[in-house]
Amino acid sequence: MSSAKRNAAKSAVGLIPSSGAIGLGSGSTVALFAEELGKRISSQECTVSVVPSSYQAYQLAIEHRIPLTNLDENPELLLTVDGADEVDRNLNLTKGGGGALLREKIVAAASQRLAIIIDESKLVEKLASKFLIPVEILPFSLGYVLRAIKDLGVEPRLRRAERKMGPVVTDNGNFILDLQFRQPLEDPDNMAVNLKMIPGVIETGLFVGMADEVHVGTDDGAYIMKK
Ligand code: 5RP
Repeated sequence: MSSAKRNAAKSAVGLIPSSGAIGLGSGSTVALFAEELGKRISSQECTVSVVPSSYQAYQLAIEHRIPLTNLDENPELLLTVDGADEVDRNLNLTKGGGGALLREKIVAAASQRLAIIIDESKLVEKLASKFLIPVEILPFSLGYVLRAIKDLGVEPRLRRAERKMGPVVTDNGNFILDLQFRQPLEDPDNMAVNLKMIPGVIETGLFVGMADEVHVGTDDGAYIMKK
C-alpha cells in the first residue's frame, strides 16, 4: 500500500471525536484509516462507533474491533471519513470506484462534516477527466436507463463482475453503470440533477458541494484542502 494513502489516513485521525457516532467510508484508503481508528479505540483514546457505508466497511469495523451503529440510532453523525476517485478544485468528488456510492452518499449526507482522504493522483481540474462516473440503477430499469443516458450524449457501460458471471450487483442489490463523457464536466451539479431525474437511477457518484475538507497524502506527509 502506498505511503501517500497511509499519510492521508493518518492526517484525518486528528478529526476523530472523543466520543459519538461517525461514518466510515469505503476503499483502500479508508481501510488504512480504520486500522488507525481501531488502534485509538483499543488504547481508549476515544469511544466512537461507526456507521459503515458498505459490507467492506462493516467487515473493516469488525476486523479492527470498532463498535458498530446505524442511522436509526444515530441519524446525525459528527463526521464521515471516506475516499474518492476524483477531486476537483472546488472539492467536488467522483466516488463509486468500489461500487459503494449509494450508502456512501447517505452516510455523508447524514454527517456534520465530510473529510476525504486521497493520494495526489486523485486531484483533477474537472470531474470525469480520468475516471468514469458511476451511477447505481435499479436492475428492472436497465434498458430504459441505458437509452435515456445515451440521449444525454453520454456512453454508459454496465459494470461487469470479476470472478462471477454477469453484472456487478451492489450491496443494495442494484447494478452500476459507468458513464463515459465526451469531455470533463463543466457543471457537475447540473449533470448530477439531470442523471437523477431519470426514473431508475437511484444515485450518482457525483458528490457536489458535500466535502468539507480533503486530506491529500504524499510520499512525505499530507496537506489539507478546505472549502
Ligand atoms: C468506493 C469509493 C472509494 O472511496 C473510492 O473508490 C476510493 O477508493 P481508494 O481509496 O481504494 O482509492 O468511492 O465506492
